[in-house]
Amino acid sequence: MQVFHHIQSIREALGVDRLAGKRIGFVPTMGNLHSAHIELVKIAQQSCDIVVCSIFVNPLQFGLNEDWDKYPRTFDADTNKLREVGCDYVFYPSEQEIYPNGMAEQTRVVVPTMIDVLCGASRPGHFEGVTTVVSKLFNIVQPDEAVFGLKDFQQLAVIRRMVEDLCMPVDIIAGPIFRAEDGLALSSRNGFITAAERPQVTVLNQSLQQALTHIEAGRRDFAELELEAVATIEQAGFKVDYVNICNSRTLTPAADDDTDITALGAMYTESARLIDNISLELT
Ligand code: PAF
Repeated sequence: MQVFHHIQSIREALGVDRLAGKRIGFVPTMGNLHSAHIELVKIAQQSCDIVVCSIFVNPLQFGLNEDWDKYPRTFDADTNKLREVGCDYVFYPSEQEIYPNGMAEQTRVVVPTMIDVLCGASRPGHFEGVTTVVSKLFNIVQPDEAVFGLKDFQQLAVIRRMVEDLCMPVDIIAGPIFRAEDGLALSSRNGFITAAERPQVTVLNQSLQQALTHIEAGRRDFAELELEAVATIEQAGFKVDYVNICNSRTLTPAADDDTDITALGAMYTESARLIDNISLELT
């Protein structure tokens, strides 16, 4: 496995692979890799000859009061895991390499819909930071396909829209949500959950599941179902950011005749913000 710190060197290596007709898969990450990330690498390996994983804790997608400085940086452990799974290239650039003109002067990529709701409502600028860095990474790696986890459902929807709107020649593949045995979605931020909170945090997943069970059984009072989920989470002692039941494609509030519905939620523990979602296809 080769580690690249510079745009020029990874481009040169990938240029040789591309000339040899190799299909290139890409898994962008912010590091602190856990088994869900490794599964995304395995998904890319199924259809690609070369798999690139990037590790870059992108400051542009963190708000001023968010956890950019606290975000775990575990490069050695990450590269061990990537080597073990047979990842080919790791791109590990510095902030200077990605933002040589500084973040304030960085040209931005903005998807005009879907970014001010759900996670975007409490994290202004977050998705602009994501789409900007993902565009840059796509331009650097020029992958044939890129794999993103469904846990970040809104991120995936926003990236799909960006790729469609900007005619980017990249297949976007969704990797499933990987969960602990009790249902907690795997996330780098789970490391911030305290031992005392850990048994209760599954309430986020349970409350979303409960809402979808009611929808499957015929209820369409989505606003009421959202309130019920919020109450369940609050009773478990957590502060809710949002619970929304949405049209899976547009992320607008679900309508009575929608057949693809996703319940999304975010809540705060003492020192983590956790997100989750569950989708339902009604036939
Ligand atoms: O999902 C993430 O880890 C990040 O948002 C991403 C896609 C790597 C962009 O920084």
